[in-house]
Amino acid sequence: MSNVNLNISELDQSLLVKLDQYIASLEDPNNSLINVLHKAQQIFGYIPHNLQLYISRKVGVSAARVNGVVSFYSYFTEKKTGKNVVSVCMGTACYVKGAGDILKELLKQLNVEKNDVSEDTLFTVKDVRCIGACGLAPVVTVGEKVYGHVTKDMVKDIINTYKERG
Ligand code: FES
Repeated sequence: MSNVNLNISELDQSLLVKLDQYIASLEDPNNSLINVLHKAQQIFGYIPHNLQLYISRKVGVSAARVNGVVSFYSYFTEKKTGKNVVSVCMGTACYVKGAGDILKELLKQLNVEKNDVSEDTLFTVKDVRCIGACGLAPVVTVGEKVYGHVTKDMVKDIINTYKERG
């Protein structure tokens, strides 16, 4: 983080104004880091390093702490994502029921690397820690939608559902 320049001009200024308005509405921005990051993720879709630095200065929290929080929670992402974020749970219950194969199949069918954006910009595939639905293992989520007992054969249908929506 330390050698990253604060290139505010690279950020969308109209989105930055929205974030500024939100921060200005807070009584105690210094103690509202998580809320500010949630808002930033919602407004920008991701929280790149220059935005993290901007937030750190704006709310008076160290850049290292901001980066620590962003890195810890899988909800936050530092890279631009596809329209649909497909998350494969790699917690123990899901892993032993074949989550690794599901992940490989998704990456293969979408022809994309983990955490990258597919060529049609529709998908990003991530692996995540246990999401607390172990009874449904293996579990895949697409946005808010949860798919349980996922098999390799189901992968194509899941992908097609979101391709059709465009
Ligand atoms: S291990 Fe996947 S939901 Fe718990």
